[in-house]
Amino acid sequence: TTPLRVALLGCGVVGTQVARMLVERGADLAARAGAPLQLTGILVRDPAAPRELPDGVDRSLLTADAETLVDAADIVVEVMGGDEPARSLLLRAIAGGAAVVTANKALLATDGPALYAAADAAGVDIYFEAAVAGAIPIVRPVRESLAGDHVERVLGIVNGTTNYVLDQMATRGLGLDEAVAQAQELGYAEADPTADVEGHDAAAKAAILASLAFHTRVTLADVACEGISGITADDVASAAQTGHAVKLLAIAEQTPEGVSARVHPALVPLDHPLAGVRGAFNAVFVEAKEAGDLMFYGQGAGGAPTASAVMGDVVSAARHRVLGGKGPEESNYADLPILPPSAA
Ligand code: NAP
Ligand code: HSE
Repeated sequence: TTPLRVALLGCGVVGTQVARMLVERGADLAARAGAPLQLTGILVRDPAAPRELPDGVDRSLLTADAETLVDAADIVVEVMGGDEPARSLLLRAIAGGAAVVTANKALLATDGPALYAAADAAGVDIYFEAAVAGAIPIVRPVRESLAGDHVERVLGIVNGTTNYVLDQMATRGLGLDEAVAQAQELGYAEADPTADVEGHDAAAKAAILASLAFHTRVTLADVACEGISGITADDVASAAQTGHAVKLLAIAEQTPEGVSARVHPALVPLDHPLAGVRGAFNAVFVEAKEAGDLMFYGQGAGGAPTASAVMGDVVSAARHRVLGGKGPEESNYADLPILPPSAA
């Protein structure tokens, strides 16, 4: 089978793990995707700069020539972050007929409508499971599995950095700056952690979730936002004495006036499932008319967990190409290998 050419834009916290998985899991990915996935190049600012690469990822793949890399790809994976050049490169990839996978929630929350329109016009797919809540499958469940239901409200802890910081304040009495520095070291924070601390990252995710849940266009400008820069370890300790955890919540709901989306610190009663979400874990609590309450939980930040979500999208994009428009559901699993009978 002809390999599908995968261009990777970015080799930082997430990109390094995507490159590792592409190389390490080649045979299994090829079986699931229906074709081998060939990593054709990795965009970085300076290919000559010293950096550690995973075993099997050759330095010769590093390039600063974004256009050549994108133009020769079947699937473009954008994990570079920021507005430009990410936006122009994704539009270029789409115009050239490549499927696009991105973890860039900030870009989607501002320029999503333009990107989706371009993808529709070009007849290609844009995938972004990693853009909300890291490893947690939440985009597909809200967009697809719950499409026949009526979502009433979504409550989410969708920023790993701030949840980690609040947790460190609660358990170790750390101050904001020290806890943020730790979150940066662990690879949870954005390039500029102000986006995490001030709630902008959670607001971008709230915009994406609200758009999916309520089938409408919500952008970053529509989300009221307050972060955790005013919260101290003393506030967190006082909340605990009254039986509450302080959590930065993203809330999207259908109101009689329309869809409302907001992000702010909230006192969550200790017996609510969201109160027990620790460290950089995320959770999204969905209240749906027919399904009732659902909670999606897992690692919301970090290289490998985010790369897991990215790679799921890469496999979906590849299968879509290989099957000529038929998604995994329509393949009826006819291509699954038959296991020999168990010896047990
Ligand atoms: P990162 O560690 O800062 O890595 C960014 C990578 O992109 C670096 O390799 C950098 O090149 C490259 N890059 C950035 N701007 C570039 C430019 N103008 N030209 C060429 N290369 C450029 O970022 P990250 O944490 O992996 O995050 C990447 C994206 O994933 C962001 O959109 C972020 O919001 C999203 N995300 C991150 C996480 C997480 O936990 N970290 C989770 C979910 C989603 P150099 O190496 O040469 O600097
Ligand atoms: N900075 C983000 C966070 C990365 O802390 O949640 C995951 O989107």
